[in-house]
Amino acid sequence: MSQLSQRPADPVVGESHHHESAFGHVTGAALYTDDLVGRLTGVLHAFPVRSEHAHARLDSLDTAPALAVPGVVRVITAADIPGVNDQGVKHDEPMLPVDEIMYFGQPLAWVLGEDLEAAKAGAQAVTAEVTPLPSLVTVPEAIAAGSFHGIQPTIDKGDVDGAFADAAHVFEGEFEFAGQEHFYLETQASLAHVDENGQVFIQCSTQHPTETQDIVSHVLGIPANEVTVQCLRMGGGFGGKEMQPHGYAALAALGATLTGRPVRLRLSRTLDITMTGKRHGFHSTWRIGFDDDGRILALEATLTADGGWSLDLSEPVLTRAMCHIDNAYWVPNIRVHGRIAKCHKTSQTAFRGFGGPQGMLVMEDILGRVAPQLGIDAAELRRRNFYQAGQDTPYYQPVRHPDRMEACWDQVLAAGDVETRRAEIAEFNAAHDDVKRGLAITPVKFGISFNLTAFNQGGALVLVYKDGSVLVTHGGTEMGQGLHMKMLQVAATSLGVPLSTVRLAPTRTDKVPNTSATAASSGSDLNGGAVKDACEQILGRLRHVAAGLLGAPAHEVEISRGIVSALSSAKTVTWEELINTAYFQRIQLSASGFYRTEGLHWNLSEMRGEPFKYFAYGAAVSEVEVSRFDGSYTLRRVDIVHDVGDSLSPLIDLGQIEGGFVQGAGWLTLEDLRWDDSDRPSRGRLATQAASTYKIPSFSEMPEVFNVALLEKAHEEGAVYGSKAVGEPPLMLAFSVREALREAVGAFGAPGAVVELASPATPEAVFWALEAVRSREPVPS
Ligand code: MTE
Ligand code: HPA
Ligand code: CA
Repeated sequence: MSQLSQRPADPVVGESHHHESAFGHVTGAALYTDDLVGRLTGVLHAFPVRSEHAHARLDSLDTAPALAVPGVVRVITAADIPGVNDQGVKHDEPMLPVDEIMYFGQPLAWVLGEDLEAAKAGAQAVTAEVTPLPSLVTVPEAIAAGSFHGIQPTIDKGDVDGAFADAAHVFEGEFEFAGQEHFYLETQASLAHVDENGQVFIQCSTQHPTETQDIVSHVLGIPANEVTVQCLRMGGGFGGKEMQPHGYAALAALGATLTGRPVRLRLSRTLDITMTGKRHGFHSTWRIGFDDDGRILALEATLTADGGWSLDLSEPVLTRAMCHIDNAYWVPNIRVHGRIAKCHKTSQTAFRGFGGPQGMLVMEDILGRVAPQLGIDAAELRRRNFYQAGQDTPYYQPVRHPDRMEACWDQVLAAGDVETRRAEIAEFNAAHDDVKRGLAITPVKFGISFNLTAFNQGGALVLVYKDGSVLVTHGGTEMGQGLHMKMLQVAATSLGVPLSTVRLAPTRTDKVPNTSATAASSGSDLNGGAVKDACEQILGRLRHVAAGLLGAPAHEVEISRGIVSALSSAKTVTWEELINTAYFQRIQLSASGFYRTEGLHWNLSEMRGEPFKYFAYGAAVSEVEVSRFDGSYTLRRVDIVHDVGDSLSPLIDLGQIEGGFVQGAGWLTLEDLRWDDSDRPSRGRLATQAASTYKIPSFSEMPEVFNVALLEKAHEEGAVYGSKAVGEPPLMLAFSVREALREAVGAFGAPGAVVELASPATPEAVFWALEAVRSREPVPS
């Protein structure tokens, strides 16, 4: 067993603990970026002047009237930027527009006021002269206009044309589906000030403090060592704070340097929804061939992502989508083209799953649609196409442990009592004309690691003080996912001390530099590896001190739960005694740790390599009940078996699985982003700007019965303490809800009815799907 994955006797990892800030969350004591405003004096508040066109030439801006508004201190325009006017990493994203307005709601300037009301009034007083230009709002519009940006990669493996020629059954189709708003509870927030040395300090709700630091430094035109970014915690990020915070942080920092006063920038909900990027909606066309037994022979597809106005993370999102179109299925011959539509909308960005859900949705939609035409039960069709040992993905990565996929599937079938329930559902449906039930089971296989190999590194700083207490800083950020608790458990396990001995300090770029985003679910893999490395460096030094105290050889020394012992010694000493002795022997009691994931390689131009350290697996069974009158439905029961390896912290993992599933179900069934694509002046305006018009899941949409189990005996060799990443994969278990809706809708039609379902499958969409099914002739067999 590798040293990284091996657990000592009696480890702290594997115990269930509540979230490290749970009490703070419920009492309100936990502070978020914007809570810190009251701790500074003289804070200025920022409010944007926003575009009222989807696409226009910016002829001029008159900011003078704003300065006449009482309480307005300063207006910031592109001309005030001393460094580079760019808030992205692709250099296609001006922080403030110079001549071209690219989306409805884009900030054209920011007003700083003594309070928010003054800043708002100032923003209203600014006038912009613009010349409206033609705009592209939907993906089909962009496709028709040939408007694309960034890479256009292709996956090409096997003999696709030959396989189609041999296929007994060939189907083709088109499927366009919606993106998703992050709707983190805490909106984008930054608070910047400059200290007496000129050091710029930004508290920011960011998943990527290092990149926020980079962008602030190039906007201000100063080196990175003059900029410090701290993230206490986030009230949710979900990918929406991987790239999107940078521009706001840079604006606040610029305001602070221009005025010498702290600047607070926090978006209201409506500003956040209308200005920040979302999950990419996609358009897809596909053709699939099967043999007579329902085995996939070939797949050809074109995926077009809705990139919005700038590239942001659209390229890696697209490549992850393409690398996940196989989901859990062996596709021997495959050709997938990818491209990114350039539209006049917010710049779409990372969102839990990062393109993976979109690629997988295309495949799950295909299988759900064609199963009746093949005359094969959808669950059987899925199971029959699972990867087998020795097979590899469309990008040539061997699929290790496909048996784990089968184990999740078989266990959830048993746990969900699926056979009995399907019989009950058939009986129920035969007895009811106006309501029907449906049940579906879907698999998840999700690759873990950043596709870009360089991002797969983590850092940590571990300090042991003279009294034995331990302070850990790591490069990851806490957004509710429980990373901090896992890191505390890793540190306590590696050092051999009780959990109560270890404390965590906020994430800061001046403690751990050059970090990667807390993203791609890899927070615990990367930072856990680094925390463990730092702890082991310190332990390596302590072993000799302990050997002296115990009169035993160093290799025999064991430290567990704060007690230091050795096999050949009757003596024990406490951790505190050991540390005190080490200090007086002048032993270094701190270390910075580092980790990089070995064995990864990726060739983007060939879309080929081993981009993932391992795959996370899971399976879910969902049951729904649908009403014929209005398409409304309830989610009656959900059973999940999910593979998290040997869990670092089971309670936290269960929370991630439940939360991910519910967020996925929201994307697929409720959350309906509507942009105005009419020819009215409001063209390009996001019409769903608040919780009143954008419906996210709430208690009433929770499954009535919700059973989640972790796959047992799931040790992951070569990952920290045998664990697997959990942040994103469970989101895709929600395909089972959509497929259960399809089954229920199908039950309203003739046997073998083919069901086409929009995404999101809102009650309205379900209603139209079942109207179509009810009016259609039965499919000839
Ligand atoms: N859980 C909560 N509560 N809040 C979040 O914002 N983000 C998700 C997931 N779980 C998120 C969450 C996303 S998008 C990712 S990539 C992972 O957490 C990031 O954290 P990890 O790498 O530590 O799992
Ligand atoms: N998820 C998955 N892959 C990624 C991400 C993410 O958030 N960011 C960069 N690659
Ligand atoms: Ca958003």
